[in-house]
Amino acid sequence: MRTQVGIVGAGPAGLVLSHLLAARGIESVVLEDRSRAYVEQRVRAGVLEHPTVELLRQHGLTERLDREALVHRGVQIAIDGRRHRIDFADLTGKWITVYGQQEVVKDLIAARLATGAPILFEVEDVRVADVVTARPAVEFVHEGEPVRLACDVIAGCDGFHGICRPSIPPSELQVHDREHPFAWLGVLAKAAPTTEELIYSRHERGFALYSMRSPEVTRLYLQVPPDEDIAEWSDDRIWTELTMRLPTTDGFELLDGPVIEKSITGMRSFVVAPMRYGRLVLAGDAAHIVPPTGAKGMNLAIADVSVLADAVEHLERTGDESKLDAYSATCAQRVWRVQQFSWWMTSMLHRFPEHDGFQRQLQHAELSFVVHSRAAATALAENYVGLPFGRLYPEEAP
Ligand code: FAD
Ligand code: DHB
Repeated sequence: MRTQVGIVGAGPAGLVLSHLLAARGIESVVLEDRSRAYVEQRVRAGVLEHPTVELLRQHGLTERLDREALVHRGVQIAIDGRRHRIDFADLTGKWITVYGQQEVVKDLIAARLATGAPILFEVEDVRVADVVTARPAVEFVHEGEPVRLACDVIAGCDGFHGICRPSIPPSELQVHDREHPFAWLGVLAKAAPTTEELIYSRHERGFALYSMRSPEVTRLYLQVPPDEDIAEWSDDRIWTELTMRLPTTDGFELLDGPVIEKSITGMRSFVVAPMRYGRLVLAGDAAHIVPPTGAKGMNLAIADVSVLADAVEHLERTGDESKLDAYSATCAQRVWRVQQFSWWMTSMLHRFPEHDGFQRQLQHAELSFVVHSRAAATALAENYVGLPFGRLYPEEAP
């Protein structure tokens, strides 16, 4: 089997890349080790940045999103029970779109399969071979048969636990890794949202986030200890804790309802560089993880592949690898900007087990300034709605 680009992973990074390449006349094969049903049901992120939606729209991928997604022109921040609004539209002229990651994935899969282009689900024993040659290959088992997919470039879009990054010799990679002293319990509930915008709530009992997916479904998160057992969290305990941590005294009403899904995700900040080894290129969670407080993971994955698609197009048209050589450095400024923003949001909003009263007062002072100062609120808004894709500061050395 032969193609131009072998894409490992049918998450947001791999699927968007397949569409960007197709728009440039470049063939690819997407390989996914899970079933189609599994990836279409996997509940994860929900906030799309302005540039993410623009990119999807340019490629004709927003038909259902334009009908069903929720446009949010701002966000609310609650400090110990009192809400403050950050008005994105006023501060930046841009806004965000709330649309579940699995809905994005469903739309991208349907649009690709409708063109007859391949996505192979439930592939097994995926391996990369000959990556330091100009004819790398992905080897795998599909429907019981071993397959060798020869290509020009392999895109490692297989997430944090995939096989692509571990295929690179450790001596070739610089790794930055931080585990944070808390996790998020995420809940999807059949309960009508009662606000039009997300609420990020800082509370002495720990952080809580109020989000939504549709006029019938609420998405909620609670800060919990890093090694927390989900069995400790009955539905009743979840609603009681949310009632305490969300601003229920200032006119906000929390409606409860049946819990459809709940899970706990640990929190880390992780970056590898370079995002390339020979003809194997990493994108999205395969190369970096951010704590979810800035709602950036899926958006950063899509930003990477928008740079990668241009680099691959240049290689395919001219045989010149210079844009592929520059790929990692081109992405790096945005990757670190988003790391810093995600860490800043996380540090302002969570309760840190090791903090003393002094550190808690500093945290409070910072968050209060953000919601009261137009300049500080603008900095939050500018990052939250999404910075441009590609190199942020072209004059700076990578
Ligand atoms: P992924 O979405 O992980 O896609 C990788 C794909 O590769 C998957 O489909 C996987 O099945 C497949 N794969 C893995 N190994 C192989 C293999 N060997 N062969 C073939 N295919 C393989 N971000 C937020 O902003 N907010 C959130 O609330 C949030 N919640 C999250 C909860 C969880 C449990 C996780 C893991 C992530 C969450 N994120 C969240 C982050 C966000 O979802 C990711 O940043 C985003 O999915 C990154 O997209 P990706 O395409 O790079 O990777
Ligand atoms: C959602 C997830 C996030 O990580 C976040 O910061 C905001 C919203 C969500 O799933 O809706």
